[in-house]
Amino acid sequence: MPKEEAPKKTAERPKKQIQLLRGMKDVLPEEQQYWDFIQDRLATIAQAYGFGLIKTPLIEETGLFVRSVGKDTDIVEKEMYTFQDKGGESVSLAPEGTASVVRAYIEHGMLSRPQPVKLFYIGPFFRYDRPQAGRYRQFYQFGFEVIGERHPVIDAQLMMLAYNFYAGAKLPVSLQVNSIGSPESRADYRKALIEYYKSRKNSLCEDCRQRLQKNPMRLLDCKVPDCQVLAQDAPQIIDHLDEESNKHFVQVLEHLDEVEIPYVLNSRLVRGLDYYTGTVFEIWPEPNAAIAPGTDGSVKQSAQSALGGGGRYDTLVETLGGQPTPAIGYAGGIERCIIELKDRAISIGAGYRPELFIAQLGALARKKALKLFEDLRQAGFKVAESFAKDGLKPQMELANKLGTKYALIIGQKEMMDGTILIRDMESGIQETVDFQKITAEVRKRLEKYGVVEKRDGKIPTPSADQAHP
Ligand code: HAM
Repeated sequence: MPKEEAPKKTAERPKKQIQLLRGMKDVLPEEQQYWDFIQDRLATIAQAYGFGLIKTPLIEETGLFVRSVGKDTDIVEKEMYTFQDKGGESVSLAPEGTASVVRAYIEHGMLSRPQPVKLFYIGPFFRYDRPQAGRYRQFYQFGFEVIGERHPVIDAQLMMLAYNFYAGAKLPVSLQVNSIGSPESRADYRKALIEYYKSRKNSLCEDCRQRLQKNPMRLLDCKVPDCQVLAQDAPQIIDHLDEESNKHFVQVLEHLDEVEIPYVLNSRLVRGLDYYTGTVFEIWPEPNAAIAPGTDGSVKQSAQSALGGGGRYDTLVETLGGQPTPAIGYAGGIERCIIELKDRAISIGAGYRPELFIAQLGALARKKALKLFEDLRQAGFKVAESFAKDGLKPQMELANKLGTKYALIIGQKEMMDGTILIRDMESGIQETVDFQKITAEVRKRLEKYGVVEKRDGKIPTPSADQAHP
């Protein structure tokens, strides 16, 4: 019989590690307090200004964005995640929120509700853009849309809301404002721009040469230095506004003056989406002096610019098949806001901090501790534990690290006596109390520290000075 061959040892090939897609970002627990900080403030502001939350799907028919954002815009032309679904329909991941909100406004007959309808959203959006600091392919936006009112006071109020959101978070920002007028005044301006750039075409970047025919206003906010120089002397839209647009814009500014919201008139602000009419605005972070100046002495800022942007879109509802309905909105990027908060080391409060730690020793005590944890949590206390640990020492170390006020200790002796030890973590003083009275005992002690404000188990709202911008 032939000798059985020993099986060959095959070296196991290491499995390829799957990594995050380019331009995507994981949000880890250590960042949670920033998200909570922003979301809590937004929820409070939305309520204060009368906005109702709307949730629209991540995926929509591609045509929605082509018709609203515009087929010649960078977003639709280059950046949309578009694919055919299993039914053969062309669908896209939403690159922004306004189009979906307007679709929902029309689809749910919101025109019959008292106007204006004020809608607020927070969600992920997708743009297949070149990733860089503050620019991701999936990013989060919050947005406020006011649909069904054309009065200039609405424009000013929305800018006030946006500005105060950042100011209230202690972020120094500037409000950049412009008007791009009605479609008619824009047509006139477009001609003037094409005329101006015609003789200067050779000095433009490749993209701008393309844009000159399709979307000449975008030449004004090109970031290429040569194009920026040319943009400085380009005709200004403000000189081409028709009477109505001009009157509206002047009134918006008067309202802003009245509420003392500082703004910068920026004639080159045109925004990159086609649906805008009239008022447009952006919120920019002020230069951050804490970031080391470059070798040329200039203060280097992160490559990203706007924290958010918005404007009027008085023709969009009609474009998408609804009745002629004026509207205005604003959307801000959440990641960019967090970057600014971090770069400027802005205090966002302590976040969630447990006040009690339950420590246990022995199998029976562990069971009792598990029940106690739930009882105290349901009574509204913030409780921490480390039930899988056996020794008291590591449990106490953790209680210390978490900064809890009291540790509640159940050992074998306490199990027998029907008691529990309360240890003041600061002074180290321990007291034995009746287990049945534990809730009342910790409440009494925490009240002494002034940390018992809310005991209904709800998420705490931001403190009064944070709650209102
Ligand atoms: P947007 O200017 O395209 O406007 O986006 C608003 C904000 O979203 C930006 O200022 C930025 O903070 C954030 N953002 C945009 N793209 C990215 C990205 N790739 N990575 C990280 N953050 C990003 C709109 O989307 C309009 N829908 C705003 C609006 C609402 N207009 C009227 N209503």
